[in-house]
Amino acid sequence: MARIDEIATDLYRISIHMPQIDLQFNHFLVKDDQPLLFHTGMRRMFPEVRDAVATLIDPASLRWIGWSHFEVDECGALNQWLDIAPQAQPICTEVGALVNIQDFANRPPRALHPDEAIETGRHRYRLVPTPHLPHGWDAGMLFDERERILLCSDLFHQVGDLEPVTSGDVVGRFSDAIVAYQANPVLMDYMPFTRETRTLLKRLAALQPKLLVAMHGSSFSGDGAAALDAAADVMERHLGVPSAQR
Ligand SMILES: [Fe+2]
Ligand SMILES: [Fe+2]
Repeated sequence: MARIDEIATDLYRISIHMPQIDLQFNHFLVKDDQPLLFHTGMRRMFPEVRDAVATLIDPASLRWIGWSHFEVDECGALNQWLDIAPQAQPICTEVGALVNIQDFANRPPRALHPDEAIETGRHRYRLVPTPHLPHGWDAGMLFDERERILLCSDLFHQVGDLEPVTSGDVVGRFSDAIVAYQANPVLMDYMPFTRETRTLLKRLAALQPKLLVAMHGSSFSGDGAAALDAAADVMERHLGVPSAQR
């Protein structure tokens, strides 16, 4: 059963906890004149997420469908949403459109240029391309310029069935998750630390977000710039050094 919480004005978190892996999958609906869904969820979660969205808006009225990078929890159910929402259009990075979505999606995407924004009504979402952050060549994030909210996908990944929003130590939880995944032979190397990772995180910090919206775990309310700076240190420490040298 999905849990629904309004975590900021017009921004709803639809959370499904998967006990087998003790992980939340969070989908976000912006309830505005032109409703936006960020993260379609997996195909097998579609009925549950759709029914949760239907308690907030008519799913057929969705206008925009976005995500960070090509992966089943990000955009696996894209075509199911396109089937039930005739006006909905996928939005993604230019790389995402070129290498995946122009072929994968049943309707053409709108590829957003770096820093191009869409207006949903009361909100304006700017695309920030973030190649390989959290992972994937095509990765990007959306930033609500008016509310200073960053939809940051797997960044700040936290394990567990957690509260919708925290002002606590989200960087510590993120660090714990990376350490746990690095110790797992299947899940290790979840995110790369590339020569651009710190630069990208600094660029995100410069946006001065007040809310960091996480796909897995709690969203963080507070000094987003400080959290992003600290995340860079955590990622470099755990992911930036070859395992043999750690
Ligand atoms: Fe991912
Ligand atoms: Fe994810």
